[in-house]
Amino acid sequence: MSELQPARSNRLTDIAAGKHVDSVIHNELLDVDAALDIKDFSLWYGKKQALHEISMSIPRGEVTALIGPSGCGKSTLLRSVNRMNDLVDGLTVRGDISLGGDSIFSPGVDVIELRKRMGMVFQKPNPFPMSIFENVVYPLRIDGQRDRKVLNSVCEQSLRGAALWEEVRKRLTESGLGLSGGQQQRLCIARAIASEPEVLLLDEPCSALDPLATGKIEDLIDDLRGDYTVLIVTHNMQQASRISDYTAFMYLGRLIEYGPTSQIFTKPLVRETEDYVTGRFG
Ligand SMILES: Nc1ncnc2c1ncn2[C@@H]1O[C@H](COP(=O)(O)OP(=O)(O)OP(=O)(O)O)[C@@H](O)[C@H]1O
Ligand SMILES: [Mg+2]
Repeated sequence: MSELQPARSNRLTDIAAGKHVDSVIHNELLDVDAALDIKDFSLWYGKKQALHEISMSIPRGEVTALIGPSGCGKSTLLRSVNRMNDLVDGLTVRGDISLGGDSIFSPGVDVIELRKRMGMVFQKPNPFPMSIFENVVYPLRIDGQRDRKVLNSVCEQSLRGAALWEEVRKRLTESGLGLSGGQQQRLCIARAIASEPEVLLLDEPCSALDPLATGKIEDLIDDLRGDYTVLIVTHNMQQASRISDYTAFMYLGRLIEYGPTSQIFTKPLVRETEDYVTGRFG
């Protein structure tokens, strides 16, 4: 990682040839209050390296977007952060990731607890085959919470937080599977925030949704800013520029450029970033 440097025109060819290319990190991100700190992080699926020495700090209480062509490692990075990749056979990692200053790889770390501190929402909504109410309070049930008052209040609060309360308040006992796609996705977000995580990881949460439902999720992400640190993968450049404070551009497992969203989309320091955000490749 280095500070500002002039754009190099042969960056992508260098990367494709396996050469090391420094990330360009904008000054605004060099000294932030980081909720998540990723340091020299590399990852291999078997022999295939999917992430190369990624270093980036995710600012607390802000929305950070991960963009880049298909297969560049966005989901891999997101799944590494809450150790979902632990379940993959033949996985090797090097480097470190810390949440609130503590390494997520420390021997004493309870992975279930860790995942509670980082709610995750996937591309395809995955409500559980149970009532809307039980879907939302699921994380509390796992913890053994049985107090009806607490469950009711968390359910309402989380559904309000996910901008779904008004649509479902009269049908909480109906199955979560009976909701529309956009409602299911907001239900999954409600479930993800029910345990009050520090960080929300969203992997293309709107890709299966129509513009209206997408608009609601974007409004919701906007509301979550401040209370939550949000790390969102999106293929939609307009969405990244609308909702995020910071944007990271990845390519073939590398972090190419990371900076304030307004700069990444209007005056990026790296020519390849500009080519990507303006749709010239990818
Ligand atoms: N479980 C796995 N086992 C082996 N290789 C994997 C696994 N998951 C991902 N990969 C490989 O790692 C690379 C990065 O994949 P990843 O899913 O992180 O990309 P992505 O940027 O999220 O792509 P997309 O935009 O298509 O979702 C790809 O080459 C992919 O084939
Ligand atoms: Mg992905």
